[in-house]
Amino acid sequence: MPLPHLRTARTALLVTGAALLTRRALRRRIGASPLWPLPALEEPVSGQPRSRALTLRVARHERVADGVVQLRLEGRPLAALPAWAPGAHLDLVLPSGLVRQYSLCGDPEDTSSYTVATRLIGPDEGGRGGSREVHEELREGAEVEVRGPRNRFPLVDDAASYVFVAGGIGITPILAMVRAVDAAGADWRLLYCGRSRASMPFLEELEKLGGGEGGRVSVVAEDVSGRPDVGAFLTGAGTGAGAGTEAGTAVYVCGPEGLMDAVAGALPEGCSPHLERFAPAASAGGESVFEVELRRSGRTVTVGADTTVLAAVRAELPHVPYSCEQGFCGTCQHRVLEGEIDHRDELLTDGERDDSMLICVSRARGTRLVLDL
Ligand code: FES
Repeated sequence: MPLPHLRTARTALLVTGAALLTRRALRRRIGASPLWPLPALEEPVSGQPRSRALTLRVARHERVADGVVQLRLEGRPLAALPAWAPGAHLDLVLPSGLVRQYSLCGDPEDTSSYTVATRLIGPDEGGRGGSREVHEELREGAEVEVRGPRNRFPLVDDAASYVFVAGGIGITPILAMVRAVDAAGADWRLLYCGRSRASMPFLEELEKLGGGEGGRVSVVAEDVSGRPDVGAFLTGAGTGAGAGTEAGTAVYVCGPEGLMDAVAGALPEGCSPHLERFAPAASAGGESVFEVELRRSGRTVTVGADTTVLAAVRAELPHVPYSCEQGFCGTCQHRVLEGEIDHRDELLTDGERDDSMLICVSRARGTRLVLDL
């Protein structure tokens, strides 16, 4: 995360008493996070510590926009659920065994339930069935195993101001952030884009928080207004809030890749956005080619520059399990018997990294790996 960068850029800013109060209020709002301040961990981790699985009950399943359902998940009565902070997500283990990540979008102070929302993604958009299971099978009364919460998208509490950009269902982590900074009295603006107003969840609440038309929230529904002018929003042109995006502003973006690229390209020098991706970033290409020996199976596969260890292994061993293909869920973790690993996940602990890897994202540093497969 580019937090040190943003903090360095702020050193020239005068810290007023009012700003200090805002920070204290915001720290109180996000202070329940296991990641803020960084915890003293029993085991040093490169990713984040594994959390135990919980079985929760779907207490509410409601449609909150076209194609979007929101689930309220409750634990046992009187048992407080693990704390979370804005930006955190849950792993849901769906009835088929697929594992999917959903941002928490409820109230962090409500320890009796978690709230997530998911958009139905059809096969024509690259959906692989996870969202359909959530929509059709996680009905009220159903039980679902969850892991987490974990936070790869934490909200800093010391920014001079906040700018949020959300595309479609990317509003889910942003919603909890906006509520927190608004409650703390911090300066913030939001650009919220979607295909149509009917498809955009939480619009009414956000517009109210933003003070109505001309306020802190700019809504762009593409069926009426076309593509958003991200550059104009970031410079403050055409927004009622009027402020630009200077160094010291914390910028949070969640949405499709094109929106992320547009924000990154329009920001002034010295200002890096915090990004939450729907899918892993596309490889820049130029990856090395290496061999993977599958010792127990007696086979060796070649991993090309444009493919993954998982894909190469499954071409030989189609039964090898996987789920997220993003290095989030841990389903594809395998023991490595020989070779140097290029770890690219944020999940495994340092201890796990010594002798295992997530084959959906990680690669070899050298020319050969040997897996216990
Ligand atoms: S398939 Fe989920 S971490 Fe590899």
